[in-house]
Amino acid sequence: MKIVRTIEELRAQLRGQLRTAFVPTMGNLHEGHLSLMRLASQHGDPVVASIFVNRLQFGPAEDFDKYPRTFEDDCEKLERENVYVLFAPDERELYPEPQDYRVSPPHNLGDILEGEFRPGFFVGVTTVVLKLFHCVQPQVAVFGKKDYQQLMIINNMCRQFALPTEVIPAETVRAADGLALSSRNGYLSAAERAEAPQLYAQLQQVKAQVQAGQPLADTEQQAMAQLRLRGWAPDYISIRKRRNLEAPTPAEHRNGEPLVVLAAAKLGATRLIDNLEI
Ligand code: PAJ
Repeated sequence: MKIVRTIEELRAQLRGQLRTAFVPTMGNLHEGHLSLMRLASQHGDPVVASIFVNRLQFGPAEDFDKYPRTFEDDCEKLERENVYVLFAPDERELYPEPQDYRVSPPHNLGDILEGEFRPGFFVGVTTVVLKLFHCVQPQVAVFGKKDYQQLMIINNMCRQFALPTEVIPAETVRAADGLALSSRNGYLSAAERAEAPQLYAQLQQVKAQVQAGQPLADTEQQAMAQLRLRGWAPDYISIRKRRNLEAPTPAEHRNGEPLVVLAAAKLGATRLIDNLEI
């Protein structure tokens, strides 16, 4: 695997490649990330990964400084997955001057759910992803359904800007007890880690109750109340239409609109997100 630190080196490495498959990450890689590398290798060649902790997508009170950075371990893992190039720029390389030109996702997608609780988050994400895409020029790029709203926003950005990159979704990888793998799981104490699978357990309960015909609003409220009783501070548990993340009307729900339940909740100081298609 070639580790490249500059855009110029990256372009030199990839010159003439027409089928590049790209997986952007912020590092601290786990099996979820590695499953994306494997899926990428089924859709293109060479596979290019990036590691860049993107300051633009962190709020002022968020965990940019303490975000786990494990570069050596990450490189060993990517090496084993036959990644061809790892692009790992530093901030001066990717943002040599203030990044004043930014992508602004539409309000109805960028300012709801995660965007409501993390103002500016999706501007930061789409801006860095567009920039990384211009550096790598991939034919395909893989994103995880773990970050369901992020996946949809990037998909729509590619479509609206007619980018030549196809976005491929990857299923969420979970621990045996159901907890979705996440770099932020490392912040959890042993007791919190034991409690953390409850988030997914609540999503599964929501799914069962919706399928049993229980009203959507009641189901959401019950799930949030149960988490609160267990000491969580939920930001949202919300049942939305898969195609645009809007709330379904009763008529749409009756007519079998495909749904997804999305959740974000704090357990102690750690904020976890997850989702489940219904
Ligand atoms: P990061 O959180 O490192 O995630 C990188 C990719 O891995 C994303 O597409 C994410 O959805 C996927 N992923 C994370 N956990 C997963 C899991 N348990 N199962 C499957 N896929 C999983 O998402 C970002 O970084 C950043 O916002 C980024 C897109 C790199 C832009 O900075």
